[in-house]
Amino acid sequence: MTITMKKPANNDHPINEFSRERWSPRAFSGNPVQTRLIASLLEAARWAPSANNEQPWRFIIGFKGDDTWDKLFDTLVGWNQQWAGDAPLLLLVVGQEHYTSNGKKNDWVAYDCGQAMAHITVEATRLGLYTHQMGGFSAEKAVELFEIPEGNKPLAVMAVGYYGNPETLPEEQKEREKASRERKELKEFVFSGKFGEPSPII
Ligand SMILES: Cc1cc2nc3c(=O)[nH]c(=O)nc-3n(C[C@H](O)[C@H](O)[C@H](O)COP(=O)(O)O)c2cc1C
Repeated sequence: MTITMKKPANNDHPINEFSRERWSPRAFSGNPVQTRLIASLLEAARWAPSANNEQPWRFIIGFKGDDTWDKLFDTLVGWNQQWAGDAPLLLLVVGQEHYTSNGKKNDWVAYDCGQAMAHITVEATRLGLYTHQMGGFSAEKAVELFEIPEGNKPLAVMAVGYYGNPETLPEEQKEREKASRERKELKEFVFSGKFGEPSPII
């Protein structure tokens, strides 16, 4: 039986259904994800835009039960380890910090890697999968465990899988799981004229 928990955006204006449905759960089921679906997630990342088409993202992916998954799990902070243990797929995004063509510093590396990850989240939703990104991990540990060469920066870990049972979560996390999703109003971050002045179109 597939369990789902819907927490659609309470959007003020119409948006595409996958952006509306996407949210970051903590209750993952142990059900494995077919490799063809994982390939689609990575394909979505592949076609993300990037500065100079550098495609600075590199991914390290681990499947529950394998050595890579164990190492990725090891990098997570305690709070994230409390819930991510059932996720069948863990994925680390690493950004190459210099342009391949000329060796110059790429100021958009995190921006571009974030776009690739965002594409994964939307594709995952299309496939009935859930994603939860984590900044709460040790980049130093990742560098050490995966022998990541200098000039490549571990940026975030993502848990991917099917929805599980929220009742299995520790109390505090259970509450967060059930809480409504909140966002700023458009007028708080869309400006015209000068910074801080809400755009008249809002
Ligand atoms: C870069 C980044 C880092 C995050 N780090 C964590 C984390 O370490 N632990 C966690 O539980 N959630 C983490 N999150 C998830 C956010 O808390 C979540 O996306 C946000 O609250 C909005 O909720 P939603 O994704 O369900 O809309 C992170 C998200 C992003 C994009």
